[in-house]
Formats: sequence, C-alpha cells, structure tokens
Amino acid sequence: MDKGLFITFEGADGCGKTTQIKLLDEYLRAKGYKTLLTREPGAKGLGVKLREILLNYDGEVSPQCESFLFLADRAQHVDCIIKPALKEGVIVLCDRHTDSTVAYQGYGRGLDIEQIRKLNEIAVSGLKPDLTFVFDVDVETSQSRVGAEKDRMESAGIEFFERVRKGFLEIAKNEPERVKVIDSTQTIEAIHNKVVELVQK
Ligand code: TYD
Repeated sequence: MDKGLFITFEGADGCGKTTQIKLLDEYLRAKGYKTLLTREPGAKGLGVKLREILLNYDGEVSPQCESFLFLADRAQHVDCIIKPALKEGVIVLCDRHTDSTVAYQGYGRGLDIEQIRKLNEIAVSGLKPDLTFVFDVDVETSQSRVGAEKDRMESAGIEFFERVRKGFLEIAKNEPERVKVIDSTQTIEAIHNKVVELVQK
C-alpha cells in the first residue's frame, strides 16, 4: 500500500493552479511534511522532451497522437517519479494529471471520453489521486491571464476552452468525493485558505 498522499491540481490554462500548488507546497513543508511538487507534461528527463513536442511542435498533430504523447509522459511520470515518492511516504502535489486528458483531449478535441478514461487507466496502472482540485474561472478571465504569447495548446481558441471548462466541471460532478471545484475568481489568499481547509479534511 502507498503511504503518501497524491493531490492533483487541474483547470484550464490561466486558472491560477500553478500559484496555488506552490503555496500549498510551502505550507506543507513549513508544517514539516515531505513533499514533491511535480507536473505533467514534462516533470523531468524524457518527459521534458515530450513536453517540448507537445507545446511547441508547429506541424500537424492529430488529436489521437496528442493523447498518446500526454499518456506516454504520464506513464513514465507515474512509474519513475510519483509511485516511488508515494512509497516513501511523500505528499505528491501534481500540476495536471489524468483529468486534463479527459478535459482537453476528450471534451476539448472531441475524442471519445470513455476511451480516454481507459487509456488513462492503462497509463497510471492503478494509481488514483486521493484529492483533486479543479480551479474554475470563466474563459475570458483565464485567457486574459495567459497573455499574448501562447503555446500550441493555449492557441486552441475560446470555444475549445469553453469545452475544456465544461469537461472539468462534469468530471467534478461525477466524482464529488475526489474532485473539489474552487472558484478561482477569489483572491490568491482566499483560494489558498480553501485549499488548506480541504487538504486538512
Ligand atoms: P501546463 O504545464 O499547465 O501549461 P503552462 O506551462 O502554460 O502552465 O500544461 C501544458 C498544456 O498541456 C496545457 O495547455 C494543458 C495541456 N494538457 C493537455 O491537453 N492534456 C493533458 O493530458 C495534459 C497533462 C496537459
């Protein structure tokens, strides 16, 4: 049995999750917990190369190919980084994980959601987050936070991000025990306090 705790941070680009994951990491470390702050795609090693392709390749990428690259990164990340850390009793904080593939490639790109779920299961071989936060904000606000310089994924357009947002909210509706939606229009401090409260529970 894993001894650690696995917490994932999800939401559309510009939702503020990266700020919040850092704040929770600092909070937990200050309390004396051992943590690992990591991300998908591209935590380290081979993943960094996959991230480079996924975010910057400027030729055609089919949605299926895109899914398999995110899943390949995930399989490597889970086997080589996340599971070993959990075995050591570490609290693993992961910036994006399986729900991003359901929301972006499933709802966003329009691939079969059930198929993505099955592929996710294969990629993580039995691992499931103990807790997931979805940072929710309207698309106009999140897009304005992303700024003018957009990577390949961020350039997908407003309608794409409306579908991604809907995807995350449906995931949360289907799994209310695991997935907590946080209104990300609040102040950074208010959001952090809510995150801490839910982690303590
Ligand atoms: P992220 O690291 O959050 O981007 P940033 O560096 O801008 O904060 O995520 C990279 C992008 O990849 C983001 O647009 C979401 C997308 N993504 C997917 O489409 N599917 C996935 O399975 C994952 C993990 C990310």
